[in-house]
Amino acid sequence: MTGPNEHLYEGKEQTLVKHSVLRTYIERFAHIVGMRWDTITYVDCFSGPWNAHSDQLDDSSFSIALKELCKAKTNLATIRTVSLRCFFLEQDSTAYTKLKQFADDSSDAEIMTRNAKLEDSVDDIIKFVSAGGPSSFPFILLDPFGWRVIPMDLIKPLLCFQPGEVLITFMTGHISRFVEAEADGIRKSFDRLFGHSDYLGQIADLEGLDREDKIVSCYAETIRSNGRFEHVCTAIVLYPQKDRTCFHLIYATRHLKGVVEFKKAEKKAMEVMEKSRAEAQQRERKNTTGQFELFPSEQMHDPEHYTLLRKRHLDVSHADFLTLLRSQHSTPYDEIWTMVMTHPLVWDSDVKQWIECYRKEGILEIEGLSERGRVPKLGENHLLIWDACKDTSVREGRS
Ligand SMILES: C[S@@+](CC[C@H](N)C(=O)[O-])C[C@H]1O[C@@H](n2cnc3c(N)ncnc32)[C@H](O)[C@@H]1O
Repeated sequence: MTGPNEHLYEGKEQTLVKHSVLRTYIERFAHIVGMRWDTITYVDCFSGPWNAHSDQLDDSSFSIALKELCKAKTNLATIRTVSLRCFFLEQDSTAYTKLKQFADDSSDAEIMTRNAKLEDSVDDIIKFVSAGGPSSFPFILLDPFGWRVIPMDLIKPLLCFQPGEVLITFMTGHISRFVEAEADGIRKSFDRLFGHSDYLGQIADLEGLDREDKIVSCYAETIRSNGRFEHVCTAIVLYPQKDRTCFHLIYATRHLKGVVEFKKAEKKAMEVMEKSRAEAQQRERKNTTGQFELFPSEQMHDPEHYTLLRKRHLDVSHADFLTLLRSQHSTPYDEIWTMVMTHPLVWDSDVKQWIECYRKEGILEIEGLSERGRVPKLGENHLLIWDACKDTSVREGRS
């Protein structure tokens, strides 16, 4: 593996992917938010350290985030002063001792730590965030092991900070395994996770990836509505040695720029994921057979599952793209772009490619471009005009 500290993630490559998203996103978030807000308030509700291999805790979410926040603060210092405030929560006393030591050794931010459960700490978090004042922008990370500890009624106040953004680990693998279990305690814990029981009806007739995608989209929708977010994106994180989903990262924001940066972070993390999966799988083959392979892991890797997932989400988002364009004569580019970006594994370049393709075929026009502009841009009020009369080929052909 290459990149900062990737050697620390052997055997826990899914965490590498999560940390890649966190690192890349927080780096951009801190620079962008820091240009406008005086204070960034970062809250890690399940801090750990957990299963960290680094003595300095470099492979812990709080350390990664703090490093990026501090870098941004330093970079922005010639332009403006940004204050950093962090709240790190951890229930396990052994882990907490290390967390506290880490916080005590850090001097670039005001850090409050708590050795407590989230269930008993929401009021403390609200107080801490509120104390940041009106020019503070909070970011909340919820990264639990399972689903029981983040019932919707508990976390709702944390979703409602305005301004504010959240990143949540949704343990898809475990959740899809147990979500329809009949046992009363389990049923109740899922109802509390979603904040309702409608998900059961929505997944009743589904199987495999259709079912998994529906579970995730139900949860993403619950996060959106409870936090009154404008946009929710999901990123898939696969097990290193199995072609199965380990968890999803659910990101919620009220700002278009957040989506732009999250999608960049997701794209980069997917490259990290496939590379680290290739290495993990080669390592496992070596351990099983005792034989070294002649070719590097990336050449030996079969990316079939990843390719299948990407095609699946491209197909669904392309269908949504066409449905929206066909439903009205003119569609704001921002609206269609954000709708497509709610799907994992679909990139800005995909939307641009579809638009270019339909434009060349004469079915779609872009209104509002500058004289020399050819490509629509976000935030520029560009409109996509669909010519229903020329739509026949699309209807008969690819759609
Ligand atoms: C998945 S680990 C967090 C990993 C960390 N965010 C990272 O990426 O480096 C979850 C952590 O949450 C802690 N935890 C579990 N239940 C908790 C609860 N109810 N409240 C607070 N912390 C909890 C566990 O002890 C564990 O350290």
